[in-house]
Amino acid sequence: MIIKPKGTLDIFSEEGKKWLYVNQVVEEVMTRYNYEYIRTPIFESTELFHRGVGDTTDIVTKETYDFKDRGDRSMTLRPEGTAGVVRAFIENKMYGRPEQPVKLWYNGTMYRYERPQSGRDRELTQFGIEVLGSRDEMIDAEIISIPYNIFKLLGLKNVKVHINSLGDVESRNKYHDALIEYFEPHIDDFCEDCKERLHKNPLRILDCKVDGDKDLIKNAPVMLDYLNEESKNRFETVQAYLDDLDINYEVDPHVVRGLDYYSDTVFEITADLPGAGANNVLCGGGRYDNMVKDLGGPETPGMGFACGVGRLLWALETEEVKLPINNELDAFVLYNSDLEKEYAVALTQDLRLNGFKVDTEYMGRNIKGQFKQADRYNAKFLIILNSEDMAGGEIQVKDNQTKETTMVKEAELDDYLDLNLK
Ligand code: HAM
Repeated sequence: MIIKPKGTLDIFSEEGKKWLYVNQVVEEVMTRYNYEYIRTPIFESTELFHRGVGDTTDIVTKETYDFKDRGDRSMTLRPEGTAGVVRAFIENKMYGRPEQPVKLWYNGTMYRYERPQSGRDRELTQFGIEVLGSRDEMIDAEIISIPYNIFKLLGLKNVKVHINSLGDVESRNKYHDALIEYFEPHIDDFCEDCKERLHKNPLRILDCKVDGDKDLIKNAPVMLDYLNEESKNRFETVQAYLDDLDINYEVDPHVVRGLDYYSDTVFEITADLPGAGANNVLCGGGRYDNMVKDLGGPETPGMGFACGVGRLLWALETEEVKLPINNELDAFVLYNSDLEKEYAVALTQDLRLNGFKVDTEYMGRNIKGQFKQADRYNAKFLIILNSEDMAGGEIQVKDNQTKETTMVKEAELDDYLDLNLK
C-alpha cells in the first residue's frame, strides 16, 4: 500500500466539512473588510525566499523543498506566503494603482521540511493578509483584529493576543548590540545554531527551540527598553487603536517571530489550551517595511499575518466548538422502474439547479434500501416516484420527520419544497 508522505494530511468527512466552513467564514470576513483575493504560485524561484524571507531563518536554511526543474532552474515550494505576494505586487506594478494601500488576502498550501509532530506539518495550509503601501498604525491594528475577530466569530473563547515591537532600524541595531554583549560570554553553552546566530541575528537566539527555556534567555534584555522615541510612540498608537477596536491584548517581549523580515509591530495569537505546547500559536505576523525594496520594488511599507488552518481546526476541536454545519439533504429522490429512473435523473438535476440540496439512488437498491440511504443522508423530504402518479402529473412527497405524505403537482414541487423547508 502506498501511504501519504510524512507530515501531510488527508482531510475528508466531518473534518472536510469543518475545513470548508472555516474557509467560508474567512472569505466572508475578508470580503467585508474589502481585501482582494490573490493566488500566487506554489513554487517560486529559490532566490525569492533567500532574499525575501532571509538567509538566517530556519524555514529557508533547513526546511525548504528545493528542486531543479527540467530547465535546470532552482525552484522552491513556498514555505510561506508573504514573499510570493510581495513579488507579485512588484511584478504586477500594484504600487502604481490609485487605490492605495493594496489590501490582499490569500489561502493556500505551504511546505516546510519540519520534524513531523502534532501541530507541525510538512504541508500546511495558511490563510493570510498582506497590506502594502501604508504605514498608518491603523493598518497594524486592523491586521491584528482580523484573525482575532475570525477566531471569535468561529466561536473560540481561549485566544490571547500577544504584541511586541521590534522597533525601527536604529532601535534594533542598538538592541542587537546589547544582545551580543549579553550572550557573548556564555555562547559556548548554547546550541550550534545559536552560536551562528549570535552575530548574524542575535534576536533569533530568543526564539530558539533548543535553548528557549534557559534562564539566560528568559532574563535577556528586552527590545521595548531599546525603542527610540519614534518607535515607542508608534507602538503606543497601535495599542490605542487596538483599545478602540476592543481587542484584548498583552504586550509580550518574547514575541520576536522566526522570520528575518520584521520591524516595528509583531504579534501572535495563541490558543490557551492544554496539550498544545509551543504549537499553540494559531497565527502570527508583523510589519516588514523593507521587503518590497529588498526585492527590487519601490520603497513600500508592508504588514501582514498568516494563520495555520490545521491549528485553527485543532483549537476548535479542543474547545469542542460546535460549528453550524448543515448535515442534511433537502430531499432524496426514490424510484423503482427504468422509466421512473429516467425521470429521477432529470428531476434531481432540475431541483439541484434550482438551488435545492438533493441526491438520488445510484446503486440499484430496492425501495427499502433507498429509504435507508435517504436516512443516512438525513433527507428532510422523500420524493417517491411512481409511474401512475407521474402519468397524472403528480409526485408523492413524504416529510421524513412527520412521515406525512402529500401529493404535489409536478409544476408546484419547487414551491412546495421552498415553503416547507424551514
Ligand atoms: P509563521 O509564523 O511562520 O508566519 O506561520 C504562521 C502560522 O502558520 C503559524 O502561526 C502556524 O499557525 C502556521 N504554521 C507554521 N508552520 C506550521 C507547520 N509546520 N505546521 C502547521 N502549521 C504551521 C508566516 O508564515 C508569515 N508569512 C506570516 C506573515 C504574513 N507575516 C507577515 N505577513
